[in-house]
Amino acid sequence: MEFHVYESARAACEAAGVLIAAQVTRKGDSVLGLATGSTPIPAYEMLVQWYERGVIDFDRVRTFNLDEYVGIDHKNPLSYHAFMQEHLFSKVNLRPENTHLPSGHSAEAGLRYDRAIHEAGGIDIQLLGIGRNGHIGFNEPAKDFTFGTHVVTLTQDTIEANARFFKSPDDVPRQAISMGIGNIMAAKCVVLVATGADKADAVYKTLCGPITPQVPASILQLHPCCVILADHEAGALVERESR
Ligand code: F6R
Repeated sequence: MEFHVYESARAACEAAGVLIAAQVTRKGDSVLGLATGSTPIPAYEMLVQWYERGVIDFDRVRTFNLDEYVGIDHKNPLSYHAFMQEHLFSKVNLRPENTHLPSGHSAEAGLRYDRAIHEAGGIDIQLLGIGRNGHIGFNEPAKDFTFGTHVVTLTQDTIEANARFFKSPDDVPRQAISMGIGNIMAAKCVVLVATGADKADAVYKTLCGPITPQVPASILQLHPCCVILADHEAGALVERESR
């Protein structure tokens, strides 16, 4: 695993944008695995700017998002569908038929999503944020690692973390549909961005702790091409250990 620390949160996120742009430049029909949340927004802003300046072209790019809430209308501004429209899809020349987010709440819906990823040739580069509890996608700490796309019940910690986007914690959906750890590990390259002091413990356990489903991101230690980009706050405990 490669680990890079940046002076600011924005720089760490923009570095992820650089890696995605490089992927799209090298292979015009790349398959991108995308994330929502606060962390990747500067990366999407960079991609939009480079698209507007004619540096990158999304005409043949396909995208698969990590996750979506269950029981929330796709037009709801708090849905991940709406998030992606707002921050990327409506601002670049991605073809709507080439953008995918999981939806539904059945095992079949998960299998359909896995099949679509497989038929697209697999994910070339997977962008990830990380939860305070070490979740990636909505793969919460658990007894086992999950393989494919599946319905998850969100932990209290994740509900509290996501409550900042909703009027009250009671409004946060309790379930989501998420790519599994197997989908993430199958991506050819993984780029995880972590910013802010509240991610420091998760980043430390991801890089330096035992590989355990209690810290889902720790499985990335086994990925052959994984880059972790952090600001000083999120990287603080790892930096202290390596001094
Ligand atoms: C989002 C996702 C989540 C977030 C994580 C961090 O698609 O899968 O794993 O990446 O919860 O969220 P932020 O970036 O808001 O701190």
